[in-house]
Amino acid sequence: MTIRIEEYHRQTRYARYDLGGRGLDLGTQPKVFKTYPGLANVPLPPVLAHPEDALSSVIHQCAASEGTSRLAVDCLAQIILLTHCLTAKARYGGEEFYYRSVASAGALYPFELYVGVRGVEGLADGLYHHSVELHALTLLRQGDVAATLIGAFPWGPGTSPPLIFFLTSIFYRSSWKYRDRAYRYDLLDTGHLAENLCLALQALRLPYTLSYDFDDNKVNEALCVDPDREVCLAVASAGGANTRANDAVTLSESAAELRDASRVAVREAGSPFIKETHIATSKKEQPSEPLPKMLDHLGLKMEGAFEKLPPSKSWPEVMSYAQAVFKRRSNRNFVPTELPARYFVSLMELIVAVHKRDHEPEVPQATPAVGVIVGSVQDVDPGFYLFDPTENSLGLVSAGPLIEVSAHACLDQQWLRNCALHFLFLANLEHLEKTYGPRGYRHVMLTAGRLGQAIYLGATAMRLGCCGIGAFYDDEAARMLGLNEHSYLLYLVGVGPLRKWAERGGQ
Ligand SMILES: Cc1cc2nc3c(=O)[nH]c(=O)nc-3n(C[C@H](O)[C@H](O)[C@H](O)COP(=O)(O)O)c2cc1C
Repeated sequence: MTIRIEEYHRQTRYARYDLGGRGLDLGTQPKVFKTYPGLANVPLPPVLAHPEDALSSVIHQCAASEGTSRLAVDCLAQIILLTHCLTAKARYGGEEFYYRSVASAGALYPFELYVGVRGVEGLADGLYHHSVELHALTLLRQGDVAATLIGAFPWGPGTSPPLIFFLTSIFYRSSWKYRDRAYRYDLLDTGHLAENLCLALQALRLPYTLSYDFDDNKVNEALCVDPDREVCLAVASAGGANTRANDAVTLSESAAELRDASRVAVREAGSPFIKETHIATSKKEQPSEPLPKMLDHLGLKMEGAFEKLPPSKSWPEVMSYAQAVFKRRSNRNFVPTELPARYFVSLMELIVAVHKRDHEPEVPQATPAVGVIVGSVQDVDPGFYLFDPTENSLGLVSAGPLIEVSAHACLDQQWLRNCALHFLFLANLEHLEKTYGPRGYRHVMLTAGRLGQAIYLGATAMRLGCCGIGAFYDDEAARMLGLNEHSYLLYLVGVGPLRKWAERGGQ
């Protein structure tokens, strides 16, 4: 049976009075930390100082010019810490629970991070799993793992970069709670992690290529994950393209034992629909040039022309990029205070920067259309707008106080009414499948997640609140926006002033 991506998305929609829910079975709750019993952990060296740059410069930063010195393990430790770390501890039901630098639907953290290392000072060549719990690496395979993956990636044949990051997702972690809808969150959450990785590499001025396209079977096999449970969703090569080495690759443990580590509960009621959908999305088509703009395919009639936004003179940031990574949290205590225009244009510039990175010629990716529902923003009338990041311009689709309707469509999460704006990530899934093939679904969802994480960090750096929203009544949301029958809301991110911000007099 071939699953169309639109069918997956439609069948996992939420409808009012029918969330298809069931109680959570605490007896089958998944472990949030992946471990490899019996394998030693290599602690990562402590990171003594972080980059002081602001996010507004990091997002535009390019790699240092040729001739960079050999990478050392300290640099890898810093990349990893800026990508994924524990940031806060809470107690629930007598148990400790750790929040992280990456947002995740329901705090279920389906993603895992692996790194293939070659020629890094202070660390043996091999494939490592990152233990976020211990800030340590577990050696799974020795040797040049990239050499076993020649031809599995879209980038240069026969090259083996010093670092290859693999971002995977363990299906059951999210499907335990969200059932079949969880594949959406696997992709969105992993996109959040991917953006943190991209920004870390940019902050450290390392060249990198992020790709969602690779040979799924070869990569999952090289990672020794159980592909029925855990799959790779994104790969980033970093640190330059060295020539390939031919060292032998050996396993630290039998492949079967390593694969068993993808199991996260004694009893796992997996979702066959998710597995089938993931397999269906392995196929990709090469889109014809020029790349289609998703915003032209949503069936929306504009009320006005697109107007260019003014450039921001400087972003009103109050902390560095690195501080924002460690401080980022989801907020819900928004206050209905008008967002000054300079905050708005800075947030839109963030979208422009991420979008630009995705359209570098070597890695064309399908990207979602970006919309904004404006509730209360200085100099911008309330309403629903489309945003064209290639032009940094905004076009009105429909005027009016839609933010309340939007909160209503988001499972009546009433606090969303108080946001200054809701970012929307949208796609026509029929058009997407025709142009990019079913793999386009992974592209748009992962990219929506990346944009979400960038917005979280931008909001944090400017002391605004932010919260990603994956829970909405899909048909109501599409109706509210006036989307055509094949177009959908993929993800929503609310942003705005918080109570503390308002008490400080808007600073
Ligand atoms: C894809 C995604 C969907 C989310 N959906 C919701 C949502 O519908 N409602 C909500 O209150 N929070 C939502 N969140 C926020 C998560 O609940 C939050 O990230 C998680 O509890 C971890 O807390 P933290 O972000 O403060 O670290 C979502 C986050 C992500 C990444």
